Amino acid sequence: MTTPIAISFTETDLDVLSAAQGKLALIVTPDNKLDPAARRVNRLTKGAVARLTESDRWADADEGECVTLAFPAGLAAEALIVVKLARRPDAATARKAGAALAKAKGEAALTLAAGALTRTAELALGLALRGYDFNDHKTAENKTVGDAVIMASKPDDVAAVAAPLLSVAEGVFLTRDLVNEPSNILTTEEFAARLAAMRDMGLEVDVLDEAELEALGMRALLAVGQGSDSPTKVVVMQWNGGGAEAPLALVGKGVVFDTGGISLKPASGMEDMTMDMGGAGVVAGVMHGLARRGAKANVVGLIGLVENMPDGRAQRPGDVVRTMKGDTVEVINTDAEGRLLLCDVMWYAQERFKPAAMVDLATLTGAVIIGLGHEKAGVFSNDDGFAGGFLKSAEAEGEGAWRMPLAPAYDKLLKSAVADMKNVGGRTAGSITAAQFLQRFVKDDCQWIHLDIAGVARVPEETDFAPKGATGWGVRALDRMIRDRFEAG
Ligand code: BES
Ligand code: ZN
Ligand code: MN
Repeated sequence: MTTPIAISFTETDLDVLSAAQGKLALIVTPDNKLDPAARRVNRLTKGAVARLTESDRWADADEGECVTLAFPAGLAAEALIVVKLARRPDAATARKAGAALAKAKGEAALTLAAGALTRTAELALGLALRGYDFNDHKTAENKTVGDAVIMASKPDDVAAVAAPLLSVAEGVFLTRDLVNEPSNILTTEEFAARLAAMRDMGLEVDVLDEAELEALGMRALLAVGQGSDSPTKVVVMQWNGGGAEAPLALVGKGVVFDTGGISLKPASGMEDMTMDMGGAGVVAGVMHGLARRGAKANVVGLIGLVENMPDGRAQRPGDVVRTMKGDTVEVINTDAEGRLLLCDVMWYAQERFKPAAMVDLATLTGAVIIGLGHEKAGVFSNDDGFAGGFLKSAEAEGEGAWRMPLAPAYDKLLKSAVADMKNVGGRTAGSITAAQFLQRFVKDDCQWIHLDIAGVARVPEETDFAPKGATGWGVRALDRMIRDRFEAG
């Protein structure tokens, strides 16, 4: 697994600045007042810091940006990075500055003199998140990345605030690794094995095999996987950090590769379907974060693992399958497989755990990308309060999310001539009809959110906190929602 760079916090010691190896970073406030560390470095470099802060380049820099001076005279460091940041930035600007530092740092070791900056822990989170690089399959890539040492006025206080944030960053990295991993490596079995290894963190993990799923009646889920050599599995991860209260259930779509099945996708772009387990990846990342930070909440993560392949045994368009709930589905299009998987896993989650609330996550429809692009996930819910709470958490974490409608008129589009419903609605409102299908498997007393993350799980361009590729979208928003609503005390 890609681990975030090690970040440690120490007392400020001005005497180490001249000899610091790797890259040395300073913070200068927008009013250009130099703190003791900046004054010392300015003296060592014979005024280079002051020349920078008097320049147009500096005047034009936004808050949270940094400027790098290469091979500065008077310092052992190979570069001096000057970050423009107020002494009391808001959390978002502090994170942005940390992300800018991660890019400027590259693979070098970093010493940052943060002085009396507030929100240093938030800066560290930005530094950790943007420091991600998935290079497991690049033969010649340098895999040793230098650590970061942050000198702060109250290092122990900063370290205490940073610890849970960095635990969540580890969860984000797990999600990104899973989403970036190719499908010949991340098979259903390998995915289940990686989740089972999380028992070491104190999570309870069960892996249900095909015989058990058959006995439970999950025919819709099993039908999706019947054309693949990789066995279908359901993984159940429990984190019992709360009291006796009913848990929150997180349910993830884990299609390790989606060819479309017999309703085969076109060749062009099919390689993107390695990320069709993005929902499962987020569930894994959230559970990892909860365990790492010792969350005081009861959360159960359920993941359906399946591969959608065309084959002599694959399901056909027109097949009718019976779900665990008992309703029958006419499979019009074998490429609308995510909902077939989710309906059974969601039903099982409710039957077994009686959750107070349930969130499912899935790279479910191409239509949500047409509607919202790569900026925001589609949010569907049967409960305005629950949805509103999630949207607030997402906003606070800078993870885009947008509420979408549900209504009986859309549900009608799922009427089938031969079964209780069909698995597609038609050309219009594709993301909404997919959500309507799922809602048929949500009990009335269960607060529910469906997150369609097809556009945000993996993006074609870098974002503030991630390089191009997997983002880990949702891990931070869900962790925050759990902290705010489900955590005792
Ligand atoms: N996994 C896809 C959705 C998807 C598309 C995710 C692009 C990420 C990027 C899903 O299983 C799918 O194929 N959906 C179909 C549904 C249709 C057949 C009703 C789609 O969106 O075209
Ligand atoms: Zn899919
Ligand atoms: Mn599909």
